[in-house]
Amino acid sequence: MSELIVKRNDKDWYKDLIIYQVYPMSFMDGNNDGIGDLRGIISKLPYLKELGINAIWLSPIYRSPFVDNGYDISDYRDIDPRFGTMDDFDEYVNECHKLGIYVIMDLVVNHTSDKHPWFVASSASRDNEFSDYYIWRDEPNNWAGAFGGSAWEYSEKRGQYYLHTFSKGQPDLNWKNERVQHEVLDMISWWCGKGVDGFRVDAISYLDKADFDYSPNPVDVSGYAFALDINSNRPGTHRLISMLRTQGFDKFNAMSVGEVCCYTPEDNYNYSSDSRKEFNMAIPFVPPVLEIETWSPLNMKKQIKESYEVLKEDGWWARFLSNHDKPRQVSLYGDDKNYRELSAKFLATITELLPGTPFIFQGEEIGMTNVYYDSIDDYNDIDMKNMYELERMKGKSDEDAFRFAQSISRDNARSPMQWNDSINGGFSLTRPWLNSNPNYKEINVEKEEKSSDSILSYYKELIALRRNSYTLRRGLFEFMDFDSPYLFSYKRYTKDDEYLILGNFSKDKVIAEYDINGYKPVLKNYNKNYSKKIASMEPYEVVVLERM
Ligand code: GLC
Ligand code: CA
Repeated sequence: MSELIVKRNDKDWYKDLIIYQVYPMSFMDGNNDGIGDLRGIISKLPYLKELGINAIWLSPIYRSPFVDNGYDISDYRDIDPRFGTMDDFDEYVNECHKLGIYVIMDLVVNHTSDKHPWFVASSASRDNEFSDYYIWRDEPNNWAGAFGGSAWEYSEKRGQYYLHTFSKGQPDLNWKNERVQHEVLDMISWWCGKGVDGFRVDAISYLDKADFDYSPNPVDVSGYAFALDINSNRPGTHRLISMLRTQGFDKFNAMSVGEVCCYTPEDNYNYSSDSRKEFNMAIPFVPPVLEIETWSPLNMKKQIKESYEVLKEDGWWARFLSNHDKPRQVSLYGDDKNYRELSAKFLATITELLPGTPFIFQGEEIGMTNVYYDSIDDYNDIDMKNMYELERMKGKSDEDAFRFAQSISRDNARSPMQWNDSINGGFSLTRPWLNSNPNYKEINVEKEEKSSDSILSYYKELIALRRNSYTLRRGLFEFMDFDSPYLFSYKRYTKDDEYLILGNFSKDKVIAEYDINGYKPVLKNYNKNYSKKIASMEPYEVVVLERM
């Protein structure tokens, strides 16, 4: 086995990445002011190198008023002071590259902050050079913003309403305006010039808007319908994305992953096929409420199969169970009480050995869990606070509304990284912007590093396994026992090589029937011997076998 070298000039280089998502506010605080920052991240690069990942996606670190934690940008070419300086950033890029880690940035261009100078100018009058950078109307329609209320906000100065798909602090850019398109292309070139290797492109399904006179049936009592639903996946948006690809990313062979709405297999294909030249791969966005209500192992398998079929000849996938918008994976899909370690290892294995580029969200490699703060005031997430109010308006008690909001809160993923068992989990000496999960005494990196059986040690083996096997990275894929609601098993193979990934996605022991004669285990989460046959599987058991 030889060390995997990802050649940045290869057309398909992004297919061999293992991407680690850092949520900068919560990763590591370098100057002890309670907020994570670039110096903190730099200090932990050796940790990430040892984990085995070869790319880092940073959630936004640009200058921002932080209405939506940095997804509201007021200067695309500056670093927010809470994260450090441009020198820190340059050093970050250098250090990453020295370690063979590629640099992926978040590109947020559906909207800017309402404090962005373009918007400040645009809202001042109807006849300046930025007047058409945003979407203005004399009257609002019944579209709603994703974080509650009307998607239109009145500007006194200009005497018109502007559209915001998300919060009112996030006005939508007017992509019909070619100057806006050029601003974004210039900005992409500028960051690539600084050494950035790729982009995770935020909320990008809504660039082209429907006819404003279109007022669909309201979806809620207040008579609103979500702008987000109305405007997603329009042909005009696809044309703009392919323009960004050919005139932007491709000039630098930069990788791109779009956060998009995928309602059908065609949507998957349109965004992430090679031949259409939009994104290299897609992160399908599913609202947490919907995910919590509808997920099941069988549904997951169906989605994986469907998108595999539609893209296998001509496209690629992003593989992930977690990010900064979702509950912790071990809490949502696993069992964070009775089988935390086993289910964390299980989930990682079945996800990261699929065809596609794996994404690991900070903390999942040590099995971090959801948070349960005492009161709504302990939380920060704008989305959750809005849900809480909505549930109360619908008549739920404070207590019930709070429990519900807690379950979907994006803060579950955003609590500080747990490095050791000292104050605030070693994240900061000052009380963090969002409290540490009190379980940091039990769950932390230092403790995990000491045990060869830990989740962290398992992740290292799993990542190494993938890095060292062409078959696991690029080979073909096929589900086994597809119809079973519990078993989650598949094959990865090429003409010379084959792996079986056999798993039980449940809390119960289940009957299984696998002939494993001629295979040897290369990774497992139970201390068990495997030979010839498997007749049953323990809760969350997973084993990876290689054909001898
Ligand atoms: C994406 C981000 C999310 C943000 C939203 C608006 O979904 O992942 O955190 O709130 O876009 O930018
Ligand atoms: Ca700091």
